[in-house]
Amino acid sequence: MARGLKICLVMTMVLAGLVGGEPHVPCYFIFGDSLVDNGNNNGLVTSAKANFTPYGIDFPYGPTGRFSNGRNLVDIIAELLGFQNYIPPFATATDEEILIGVNYGSGGAGIRDETGQQLGDRISLNKHTTQQAGLYTPEQYAGVLIHQYSQQIKTLYDCGARKVALFGLGQIGCTPAELAAYSTNGSSCVDTINNDVQLFDDQLVSLVDDLNNNLTDAKFTYINTTRISSDDPSRFGITVLNVPCCNVSSNFARAYSALSSTDAYPMDIRTLAQFSLQTFRSSYK
Ligand SMILES: *[C@@H]1O[C@H](CO)[C@@H](O)[C@H](O)[C@H]1NC(C)=O
Ligand SMILES: *[C@@H]1O[C@H](CO)[C@@H](O)[C@H](O)[C@H]1NC(C)=O
Ligand SMILES: *[C@@H]1O[C@H](CO)[C@@H](O)[C@H](O)[C@H]1NC(C)=O
Ligand SMILES: *[C@@H]1O[C@H](CO)[C@@H](O)[C@H](O)[C@H]1NC(C)=O
Repeated sequence: MARGLKICLVMTMVLAGLVGGEPHVPCYFIFGDSLVDNGNNNGLVTSAKANFTPYGIDFPYGPTGRFSNGRNLVDIIAELLGFQNYIPPFATATDEEILIGVNYGSGGAGIRDETGQQLGDRISLNKHTTQQAGLYTPEQYAGVLIHQYSQQIKTLYDCGARKVALFGLGQIGCTPAELAAYSTNGSSCVDTINNDVQLFDDQLVSLVDDLNNNLTDAKFTYINTTRISSDDPSRFGITVLNVPCCNVSSNFARAYSALSSTDAYPMDIRTLAQFSLQTFRSSYK
């Protein structure tokens, strides 16, 4: 559970208020991780950044910090909701823009503060932390996350959120990062991670029922990410699913292993590490 959840966690979408004219809701607030981040991490000390090419190659404004070649899913939903502009990141939103909505998404963020800490800074959904995932079975840990998540959702409710779309976790065990990190035991995905995802999603569905029963002047809905992303991607021309397009996250790997002779002078760190000082001395005699 913990392994998968470190990579991507919550996507919460809050549509506050009532329908009136155009757009379909007066404001739109977004919480989540790299799936929704649109620039909040640009100024943070973290390796979870996407404000350089090839991110943004198909986006009209180029690289913005979206972990995407183009729009991300909350941009598409903003369009469908009839917003004239994409919802600005918290990092740069003006006072006037905040009235329409803010995107708090931060790559590497999660329900728990320690999520993503291996990547660096991020704006987490919560400021207090509890114990480590290793203390729990996957099922117990899903319960702990759901409990903490429910508190956070109620805080949003107390702030006025009334229409809330809660995105379930998708098949994290099928992502290139997990496939590279863990054995699949002959399967096409890391099934243990996907099983843990299922435990969380099942409890999230129950939480949505609970919230709808308890908070009758608000409406919560579960988005079945697993279902939505299970259609055959080749229908949309996407045929390579198990490897990333580009080695973007490891630019500094070029310090270790140079891709061109100008990456390091006179040698990359790998060569330096293997370099025999004996040879070094003798060659400069
Ligand atoms: C690998 O798959 C086999 C056959 O399904 C199963 O018996 C075994 O427990 C699996 N091992 C791991 C580590 O998941
Ligand atoms: C909803 O109310 C029931 C009964 O009071 C309670 O057991 C449950 O924890 C509540 N759920 C949430 C998500 O607030
Ligand atoms: C979500 O989709 C999966 C896969 O299609 C399905 O098994 C599951 O029942 C769906 N969940 C809900 C709450 O409808
Ligand atoms: C990414 O880097 C790895 C390790 O250096 C290499 O094996 C792989 O071919 C690279 N992939 C692409 C698409 O450049």
